[in-house]
Amino acid sequence: MRPEVHPLPGLPSEVRIWEVGARDGLQHEATVVPTAVKAELIARLVDAGSRTVEVTSFVSPRWVPQLADAAELFARLEWRDGVRYPVLVPNLAGLDRARAVGVRDIAVFASATESFARRNLNRGLDESLEVIEAVVAAARAEGLGVRGYVSMCFGDPWEGPVAPAAVVAVARRLVDMGCEELSLGDTTGVATPGHVVSLLGALGEAGIGVERVGVHFHDTYGQALANTLAALQSGVSTVDSSAGGLGGCPYAKSATGNLATEDLCWALDGLGITTGVDLDRLVATSVWLAGILGRPSPSRVVAALTPTTSEEP
Ligand code: HMG
Ligand code: MG
Repeated sequence: MRPEVHPLPGLPSEVRIWEVGARDGLQHEATVVPTAVKAELIARLVDAGSRTVEVTSFVSPRWVPQLADAAELFARLEWRDGVRYPVLVPNLAGLDRARAVGVRDIAVFASATESFARRNLNRGLDESLEVIEAVVAAARAEGLGVRGYVSMCFGDPWEGPVAPAAVVAVARRLVDMGCEELSLGDTTGVATPGHVVSLLGALGEAGIGVERVGVHFHDTYGQALANTLAALQSGVSTVDSSAGGLGGCPYAKSATGNLATEDLCWALDGLGITTGVDLDRLVATSVWLAGILGRPSPSRVVAALTPTTSEEP
């Protein structure tokens, strides 16, 4: 089953999907997913056509035990032409670990707010940016690809509204220190489409054009796809998403994961936008993983395309 194709004017002909399920999704799981399962997930994602697969984080295992096997997992990955396996790196210790296993692309992560910088990186905003600057300099000197995330771009649960100027300031610093591209994180899913357009406009006015900006929407309030369309209409062509909509609190709010890659692909397929991802293979992957995790995927498209015992269409 596929949507009919009805293009809209003014959208990119191709979108690069930055698949984050193995990292953003599995970092939230209550239980530690076995390394072999993670490796199979990543192989299946690549088989389904994903070309940029963020695979893990070289963060402190005390902070994120779910990804403590980063080095072991990375060593198991199969390199294939045209496929990139970026990893998150918070500090120089993480960069050393990543380099030791042959990582070629990293992502550093900063916050637009002081509160989240302290909670996520155990450093104030300025101090965290100093750590990140050292990581970016070392990574670029070694020829690694570097992406810079900015979290809490659209609102912060501790601080409330986040001024676009605060996001622009952090984005500017990341670009100036050498990040080739940025990803705007809606960490708690509070963004709405007009907000997305105005933030992209503010970044553009500061000289940070849409060609180097990706969007990273969590779907907590069901806005991720609407926000994505707004971003595409503004010229963005890199979209982060998570297979099966993985992520969020495993006990109750499973819908707080990222935008599901399947939901994204359904919309992009219907718009006639090329992604390279085979929706059927991706759905099969998410159904397989849901079986292992013991709960259904929150993706509407996964549910709709999963065969049931009923004969009714
Ligand atoms: P800290 O406790 O201040 O670190 O945490 P430290 O430098 O004081 O070191 C403490 C211990 O951790 C030491 O070990 C270090 O060796 C070790 P000990 O001597 O006590 O045995 N350590 C490490 N071990 C392995 N790898 C490392 C590493 N660094 C230190 N890289 C730190 C500071 C940055 C390490 C910590 O806060 C951390 O790991 N934070 C990561 C948090 C995280 O992963 N969050 C989720 C990813 S961000 C995200 O999801 C948002 C995003 O999706 C976008 C969006 O949605 O907005 C990207
Ligand atoms: Mg995220």
